[in-house]
Amino acid sequence: MSRLPLIVVLAALLADCDQNMDVQPRYGEYSRAPLFRGSVLRRPPENTIARDDLERENVAGTKPALSAELLARGRVRFGIFCSPCHGAGGDGTGIIVQRGMPRPTSYHDDRLRAADDQYFFDVITNGHGAMYSYASRVPPGARWAIVAYIRALQLSRHASLDDVPADERAKLENSP
Ligand code: HEC
Repeated sequence: MSRLPLIVVLAALLADCDQNMDVQPRYGEYSRAPLFRGSVLRRPPENTIARDDLERENVAGTKPALSAELLARGRVRFGIFCSPCHGAGGDGTGIIVQRGMPRPTSYHDDRLRAADDQYFFDVITNGHGAMYSYASRVPPGARWAIVAYIRALQLSRHASLDDVPADERAKLENSP
């Protein structure tokens, strides 16, 4: 007798073995859970706060002290997240604006120079007009770093030699 039918049946059975972990009883998040008289995804008890959220809130609520590290971080984050529209110098002429995005007000505009740090932080968090929120992409610590860097950009066009510490001034005066 030919063994072919047996081989075919065995092959079919073996192929099924492959699925043992893929197909198994499971609940969908929103399917009914009779035990709880609701959906499988349970509502967390009232006033529950995820630990990550608390951490983010704390960082968001405390402006860090200005430091060289903070500025360096802000410079990198600004280059990644803001300069495509606002331009490396903050004039609002980044590459995306050159391709048709509405031009934002320059950071060197008097109104934005007078705005406080919190205003910049809030624009990153909530967006502003045509600019969408960066809350999901830029964590609060990086937002403060970016704000510090924007302040440095603004100062860079209004600083005088007197603002430079004496020991650094000599270097500037001797530079070509
Ligand atoms: C995709 C382009 C784009 C990116 C990226 C972007 N912005 Fe904007 N931003 C805009 C536009 C457009 C406006 C003007 C919106 C309006 O007035 O409708 C704006 C406005 C602003 C303003 C001025 C608000 C005012 O009062 O006029 C600030 C401050 C600002 N952005 C900060 C940032 C910072 C900080 C980042 C990086 C985290 C960033 N933006 C990234 C497009 C962008």
